[in-house]
Amino acid sequence: MMKSSMKVALVVGMIVISASMFGLIASSGQAAGPDGFQIAVDDKGAIRLPDIDYRKDWVSLGAWAVAAEEGTEGSEGIHAVYTQPGTVEAFRETGKFPDGAILIKELFSTTTDDMTTGTVSRANDTSGWFMMIKDSTGRYPGNKLWGDGWGWAYFDAKDRINTTTTDYEANCLGCHVPVQDQDWVYVQGYPVLQGNGGN
Ligand code: HEC
Repeated sequence: MMKSSMKVALVVGMIVISASMFGLIASSGQAAGPDGFQIAVDDKGAIRLPDIDYRKDWVSLGAWAVAAEEGTEGSEGIHAVYTQPGTVEAFRETGKFPDGAILIKELFSTTTDDMTTGTVSRANDTSGWFMMIKDSTGRYPGNKLWGDGWGWAYFDAKDRINTTTTDYEANCLGCHVPVQDQDWVYVQGYPVLQGNGGN
């Protein structure tokens, strides 16, 4: 039979251990930054669109309005870009995208109407998603979705799990060369990374 004082000590000890484990998990989660690899990548480096409500739970980095062809008014497409909240915090502190940061660019078709503000285009259906995930350590050498510090993948609207991208150098990189010195990201379109608008 265990003495009751020993029992108390044991219980207290267990509480301390589990509390410190939680502390450890919480702080290592923060240190590691966004949990992009857990939600979007398997052990071989296959990339999927994370099964999360990024529109509601993530930060809207910004949006690009693609002008309609000449003779047509408004925008023919809107590209809305999202990331985990931790990405913004880390970027404001370090000026860099943290390991595991995910950037999702959602492609919207548009509807353009005359409104009380003028001729205005709004987001309509989603046609697909471009996604990048920051990999600072080169986890998947030889995998053609990975390189230059990122995983790269496109998903058509009908399949969020299997990418149509086969080779990021051929499918992605060329168009991102203008922002090579910004870690390949068009950061000029994302005011939230710079601060809170001078307030
Ligand atoms: C035709 C050129 C072009 C190709 C091909 C291209 N991109 Fe981009 N990408 C851009 C431009 C320009 C932007 C920002 C402006 C915009 O969306 O119109 C952008 C933005 C992005 C963004 C939002 C973050 C950022 O960099 O600003 C992601 C994510 C992205 N691209 C991923 C990809 C991936 C993954 C591929 C390959 C599967 C790819 N892109 C192929 C031109 C391209």
